[in-house]
Amino acid sequence: MRFSHVQTILERVFTADLPDPADVEALLRLEDEQAVQALFDFADGVRREYVGDGVLLRGIIEFSNVCRNECAYCGLRGGNTRLGRYRLSREEILATAENIWRAGVKTVVLQSGEEDNLDACWLGRIIEEIKSRFDVAVTLSVGERDRKDYARWKQAGADRYLLKIETSDPVLYADLHPGMSFENRIRCLEDLAELGYQTGSGNLVGLRGQSVKSLAGDVLFFKKGDFDMISVSPFIPHPQTPLADEPAGDLQMTLKMTALTRIVSRNAHIPATTAIGSLRGRDERPRALGVGANVLMPNFTPAPYRQHYEIYPNKRCVAEQPGACPNCMEQMVAALGRFVDRSQGHSLKAQSAAIPAALRSN
Ligand code: SAM
Ligand code: SF4
Ligand code: FES
Repeated sequence: MRFSHVQTILERVFTADLPDPADVEALLRLEDEQAVQALFDFADGVRREYVGDGVLLRGIIEFSNVCRNECAYCGLRGGNTRLGRYRLSREEILATAENIWRAGVKTVVLQSGEEDNLDACWLGRIIEEIKSRFDVAVTLSVGERDRKDYARWKQAGADRYLLKIETSDPVLYADLHPGMSFENRIRCLEDLAELGYQTGSGNLVGLRGQSVKSLAGDVLFFKKGDFDMISVSPFIPHPQTPLADEPAGDLQMTLKMTALTRIVSRNAHIPATTAIGSLRGRDERPRALGVGANVLMPNFTPAPYRQHYEIYPNKRCVAEQPGACPNCMEQMVAALGRFVDRSQGHSLKAQSAAIPAALRSN
């Protein structure tokens, strides 16, 4: 494809209310080095204009690795009997939240598997206590729950919720999520947005059976959803899962997806994910920051639990001391000529009450 033609398509995708899927697919298929660089530069320009040079930090506490689900890609799936399971106590969670706050990180992300026994009131009281004791935003990422649980936690003070769609292709979704339903995931995303959460979604790149067309569909899904946060991660195979022998997601395709997500979403918060940092020996998160990402997620999960939150093998920042990440990230970001933004980093979207019903037409 000629360079001038790439620029024309980029402009079209950027300005369209809903881009033509064929345009998005054509950009994802770019191979020529100069053309791919044009995509990356365009995304970096959109990032600079719509979210600026600051990189936000979100301190994550992986408070439980217990999960009832069987997502085909994930090492925490219930069927992985080799994994030692844990759940942090209330006191451990509060002490870790304090560590995050003392490190000058203003968002606490509480993430876990989908636990049958996770009591909504127990978590609600923890959220209340974190919000009353520390000047932080709270993000939850604990999977699919009833609307009343989401409402309970919102009332307790939770600000945000992350629930990735993983793939917007219902057939592929069904294949990878036995016993789960695409409809219910959409229902959750709609409930969360209606309840006033800053809502995050995202996908995995390189799943078995995922086509470039399907990835283009994910970009359109993000556009339609107008999400506050969007996370794009490469799939990394875990030996105790049905996808053990599948190849990992391609770094270049993950970067193209990150770039296109920035171009269509403009001011969403987009992390340079830990999975991008873990895909190879070298930490590739700086490259994601260079093609549209503006968030990093330092890991504060205390030892000895941290090593047991093994979504995929060779996860970055597992052997390091808890609390080591923010300094390391300061250096990473400074090397790019950017700076760490120590604010709570709320959504830059005009607060919309609901995710457009258009999601259902996917
Ligand atoms: N259980 C909650 C959920 O599924 O939303 C939150 C925890 S789950 C471990 C968080 C994310 O891990 C998922 O959204 C998924 O994208 C990611 N993940 C799981 N297995 C992965 C793998 N093998 N490679 C990369 N990311 C993976
Ligand atoms: Fe459980 Fe989430 Fe992993 Fe699925 S992705 S198995 S819900 S922890
Ligand atoms: Fe975690 Fe470098 S970012 S130790």
